[in-house]
Amino acid sequence: MKYPPVHPTVEGMMHGGDYNPDQWLHMPEIIEEDFRLMPLAHCNTFSINIFGWSAIEPEEGVYTFAWLDDIMDCLAEKGYHAILATPSGARPAWLSKAYPEVLRVEADRRRNLHGQRHNHCLTSPVYRQKVKQINRKLAERYKGHPALKMWHISNEYGGACHCDYCQDAFRTWLKHRYDNRLAKLNEAWWTGFWSHTYTDWEQIESPAPHGESMIHGHNLDWKRFVTDQTIDFYRNEIEPLRELTPEIKITTNFMGNYPHMRPFLGLNYRKFADELDVISWDSYPGWHGERQSTEALASDVAFVHDIYRSLKGGQPFLLMESTPSLVNWHDVNRAKKPGMHELSSLQAVAHGADAILYFQWRKSRGSSEKFHGAVVDHVGHEHTRVFQEVAQLGRTLEQLAPVAGSTVEADVAIIYDWENQWAIDDAQATNNIDKGYASQVQSHYRSFWKHGVPVDVVSMNDDISTYKIVVAPMLYMLKPGVAEQIEAYVKNGGTFIATYWSGIVDETDLCFLGGFPGPLKPVLGVWAEEIDSLYKHETVPFTWNGDTYEAHSFIERIHLKGAETIAAFQGGSSPTPAVTKNRLGKGTAYYMASANEQRFYDAFYELLINEHGLAPPIAASIPTGVSVQTRTNGEYAYTFFMNFSEDEKRLTLNGEKKTIHGETINQVTLRPYGWEVVVEAI
Ligand code: GLA
Ligand code: ZN
Repeated sequence: MKYPPVHPTVEGMMHGGDYNPDQWLHMPEIIEEDFRLMPLAHCNTFSINIFGWSAIEPEEGVYTFAWLDDIMDCLAEKGYHAILATPSGARPAWLSKAYPEVLRVEADRRRNLHGQRHNHCLTSPVYRQKVKQINRKLAERYKGHPALKMWHISNEYGGACHCDYCQDAFRTWLKHRYDNRLAKLNEAWWTGFWSHTYTDWEQIESPAPHGESMIHGHNLDWKRFVTDQTIDFYRNEIEPLRELTPEIKITTNFMGNYPHMRPFLGLNYRKFADELDVISWDSYPGWHGERQSTEALASDVAFVHDIYRSLKGGQPFLLMESTPSLVNWHDVNRAKKPGMHELSSLQAVAHGADAILYFQWRKSRGSSEKFHGAVVDHVGHEHTRVFQEVAQLGRTLEQLAPVAGSTVEADVAIIYDWENQWAIDDAQATNNIDKGYASQVQSHYRSFWKHGVPVDVVSMNDDISTYKIVVAPMLYMLKPGVAEQIEAYVKNGGTFIATYWSGIVDETDLCFLGGFPGPLKPVLGVWAEEIDSLYKHETVPFTWNGDTYEAHSFIERIHLKGAETIAAFQGGSSPTPAVTKNRLGKGTAYYMASANEQRFYDAFYELLINEHGLAPPIAASIPTGVSVQTRTNGEYAYTFFMNFSEDEKRLTLNGEKKTIHGETINQVTLRPYGWEVVVEAI
């Protein structure tokens, strides 16, 4: 299917980024120069006013929109698109001074001073009112402006506030969740342990390092509350925009791995996504790092792109931020090697992005991000490698205009769930340094990525009925209805793969009684008795399909309850099953009792891919390091070949194909970091 653009006047791909001229208002010649450089960079889209509040309201009630008017007019005059931001991500000093309640209170109950950004209370009535007021002014002023193509709400919402307003809101949220019954909350949180029973709602507070932090149900509910409160804050922000500019689509920029990086709190983006018209995210991988090969990192980034495409069932997303070269906040800030900028940007497109945007257009002269990569460097002209690579990508994106609006059609889904991640991370069990949820999911994902098989990444409650294969690594938490859905899926002919550490707790983090994997026992046909955690250097071998593989990190002792063993751990007097297979109705469910080396996942999934005929028909085989990914729009299929390796690669195509440049080829030769796009009518 073909999706409509974010605005009727946007054709093809968006290219550009955060443009912060409010830093340069005292140097108008710089802004003039920006507009000379924009067409040279082949950019057409600019996100403005992201942190612009003090430039548009320098004193309470005093508005200075003239500069923003000029920028909007200049953008419109050139036919460029403005993604106009609401400025709530950072606020003027006068606001914090006049209304200290807007300042965020941290988990240790200390109120922050004014400074930095993203440090406001989510509940403060004054802050909500001020934000709504400035947003209303923006909507009134730029409603109908020809440059206005989208709203960018705030910036990278994140964190939590623990002030009295937020505590009250949390208690209200809990009362609602537990039907006003403290007994219900006490049971759900298992507060009988350590005498933590609450007898009055007023006794409950948010988790704190010097207070309550050990009740898993409490921690989980706090995280859920923070997501809901952030959404509530966002709803307050967008009210005037919806009222005055109902035709303009709304997004907010999500952070790649934000919900999965401890000790940050994270937001449930799956839930937040329902509130947005368009998904956008900020991607800053550390290319050329020491930790991973280019290929492995490419697969991990592809996984995140697939999360964001799947959040709205395949609708194209915006890569709202990326860097044209380096960032300034990695441990070691490597510049992208020649070719990597174009390749990594096209990877986003291949997985469903219709926009490649940067932080930021021009490097700041001062303050914390003055050395972060940007299109225009301090030197100020276009004769830099980075500028020229951006311009080159811009030309390529112009050629790829027909790809906009197309999507990726996947027969495979991987379940990756925010709340499951929270619960896994909080459990004091197995390995307390790293339980490896994200990396385990990414390992399973990688086998499909290597084979060029598209994957949707979904949450546990999403509909899975249309997929041929569903993989759910470490599905520790099962919310109501999830096990039933999986069982129905398998009975109807689906292929389901589960692993160790699944079906352990319910949605309030209480363990299932009567054996793990809890309500998944019937579908998987196994009972998991015990889990063992290994040290880094330890492995246990098992044999499958005539080959021996190594299990690592986590090993479960499981028993058959209807399933058959297809691989068993070696050693010991009675080898226990490593992988089982259970037939149920028309389908099959597999259980893997351990974390396994990549070579095993690759071999195992290759078999399933072949069984289901899922390999992309375009090439007989895909060399290591090459990613093949297809977008379709009902009329054409665009297949991207991307070389994420340091060597030249060659693929033989199944017949003659046309490239996006109009050449006819039957073989693709890719230089290191090279790419090709083939178009076929369907
Ligand atoms: C985030 C922010 C930007 C900028 C970049 C730097 O994504 O949204 O304002 O700080 O990081 O990488
Ligand atoms: Zn607060």
